Amino acid sequence: MTIQTDEVMKAAQEVEVSESQIAVHWREEEYFVPPAKFIGQANASDPSIFDRFTEEKFPECFREYADLLSWDTYWHTTLDTSNAPFWKWFVGGRLNASYNCVDRHLAKYRNKAAFIWVPEPEDQVTQAITYQELYKRINEFAALLRDFCGLKQGDRITFHLPMVPDLPVSMLACARLGVIHSEVFGGFSGAACGGRIADSKSTVLVTMDAYYRNGELLDHKVKAEEAIAEAEKQGQKVDKVLVWRRHAGKYSSKTEMVKGRDFFVDELLADYKGKIVEPVSMPAEAPLFLMYTSGTTAKPKGAQHSTGGYLSYVAGTSKYYQDIHPEDTYWCFADIGWITGHSYIVYGPLTLAATSVMYEGVPTYPDAGRPWRIAERLGVNIFHTAPTTIRMLRKLGPDEPKKYNYHFKHMTTVGEPIEPEVWRWYYQSVGKQEAVIVDTWWQTENGGFLGSTLPALQPMKPGSCGPGVLGIYPVILDEEGKPVPKGSTKAGNICIRNPWPGIFQTVYGDPDRFVSTYYAKYNKKKDSKDWHDWPYFAGDGALQAEDGYYRILGRVDDVINVAGHRLGTKELESAAITVEEIAEAAAVPVIDELRGRAVEMYIALKPGQKPSKQVEEKVSGAIERLIGKVARPKNIWIVPDMPKTRSGKIMRRVIAGISNFTSPGDITTLANPEIVETIRQQVQSEKVKRGETPRELTAKELEEIKAFGKAE
Ligand code: PRX
Repeated sequence: MTIQTDEVMKAAQEVEVSESQIAVHWREEEYFVPPAKFIGQANASDPSIFDRFTEEKFPECFREYADLLSWDTYWHTTLDTSNAPFWKWFVGGRLNASYNCVDRHLAKYRNKAAFIWVPEPEDQVTQAITYQELYKRINEFAALLRDFCGLKQGDRITFHLPMVPDLPVSMLACARLGVIHSEVFGGFSGAACGGRIADSKSTVLVTMDAYYRNGELLDHKVKAEEAIAEAEKQGQKVDKVLVWRRHAGKYSSKTEMVKGRDFFVDELLADYKGKIVEPVSMPAEAPLFLMYTSGTTAKPKGAQHSTGGYLSYVAGTSKYYQDIHPEDTYWCFADIGWITGHSYIVYGPLTLAATSVMYEGVPTYPDAGRPWRIAERLGVNIFHTAPTTIRMLRKLGPDEPKKYNYHFKHMTTVGEPIEPEVWRWYYQSVGKQEAVIVDTWWQTENGGFLGSTLPALQPMKPGSCGPGVLGIYPVILDEEGKPVPKGSTKAGNICIRNPWPGIFQTVYGDPDRFVSTYYAKYNKKKDSKDWHDWPYFAGDGALQAEDGYYRILGRVDDVINVAGHRLGTKELESAAITVEEIAEAAAVPVIDELRGRAVEMYIALKPGQKPSKQVEEKVSGAIERLIGKVARPKNIWIVPDMPKTRSGKIMRRVIAGISNFTSPGDITTLANPEIVETIRQQVQSEKVKRGETPRELTAKELEEIKAFGKAE
């Protein structure tokens, strides 16, 4: 790591890095070609596949994905654009997602493992759940949801479940009934879960008493109490809490079970043993699930995904981009609480009758060799994870992979940009130079991949996701909506010109926000029913190299991507100002070697309040309570005042510059420019003391910091 010298800092302050300069600074990486052994067995190894997905063949090209599913009624219209941009896919078709993931595989794969679940404690037994067993468990739980909870098609239900098999069982039971599930990441706080219960108007919460994390059995049910209180505060009453138990028959939470409200699932299931529930034939356009994600306002958005379009898209991309065959042992090391887990642990792999591995705990427990022991033991041959995990494993156990006798044919990286250096370690050490890598770029809202190389047919380039995937036609637009010339390596806003089956249907309960956030920016004809008029605004900066490959630069809105988790600045700030001593709060990203970005929080106190460690602790505590541990700031700076414009807006880019030891940019328009130097001295001298001076930032990182706060 090089420490930033005065000279570099001075240069950073003087040089305004232009968009085109980013490209100049960005070294072109060399290609890596897919191994012949991989090509020989790949699902997509014939280049004619590209002809099938050219723009002239759109939207009918997506028939190929839909035909991977079993339909009760075949659709009559592939894409209906009459209510643009609320696209409808496979209209007239009917199907059931649970049937497609499980029932239809029984004849051939009854006794093949659908999931292999690895508990975090290494002395606990790994469980293989066959398709037959999964089928039984889903049916029994579906019967319970229907007959005990009275849930039916179109109702919403919230899960707050960790990485246990009960989670996919719960999801697929809902899918069987047409009940819309909304899983909240287990690491999120009770309050965050409560907000999502209220927004989705769920009357039932499914949770768990406890789960293992880093060697500890964490009390999880305690969060249900907070969730219910928060939901009630927001006007939503929860009638029933279904509690799965981590250890059968043993309750591992300190909270009391509330009579008439809380029920142990294992006890209730006794009444539903052997019950079979017919899968409900759902219209292709019926919502399958909600997945909440952060945006520029404090309120998370419920991305609503469809049944037919979503399932087709994850089936198709799992087949061609994850290269899943029924014979593979596929391990996506993500949490099902995120979209990656929904699409590429549960729905995608199961539609293809794969064996999907689930791991309960943290990657480095009890040591950095754990993932490789699991891979060796289970014969995993496809591995899928995020740059954060790769960075952590590289830091804590760079030589661990070679100690284990596993062999991957395919690996994925997802969720954040990956540094070429980290990519190379992944390729050489984790993949043992035998595996292809796909760097898949996409978002919660998208259902499945948007940018990636097709593994057997396109070479890999570290740090670039590749071109648009089959049937996705991206474009980079400037602020005025003019396309940046193709392959020009000029940065701009990456958009997708066309609809695709996996795109979410709406923001739950807020169609205006759906249009204004994702489509309004570049739509010129509001009433147009032609999809060409509605480019999808992804909210990411990107550039395209001459070879057509995209390099994703990161968010252009005020979202901070911490270890692959999207945190909205407004969400963080709203949580901080619940602390009574605080007048104002501003969250900014700071470059972090392990987690990609970390959050720093600037705080201004109310008159008469004094800075103290206790106030800092209160702020951290509030953020952890209202959002979750993942959002805990790296540093909290209590400052005398915030740099503000004359109209009173906090200039986040200025403090982001200070936190990252880069230029705060132009401060002449501030109402209080003198405060900048005061804050700079306070923050940077403390950071030097703590050994937090950053390495020299790349041009891309400098650009990101400079642009922070632009979305306001
Ligand atoms: O900024 C992009 C980044 O993650 C954002 C989406 O986050 P989320 O909705 O939580 O979904 C993550 C998993 C799909 C994007 O807007 N991102 C995602 N994948 C990549 C990426 N940035 C660079 N490279 C990627 N492969």
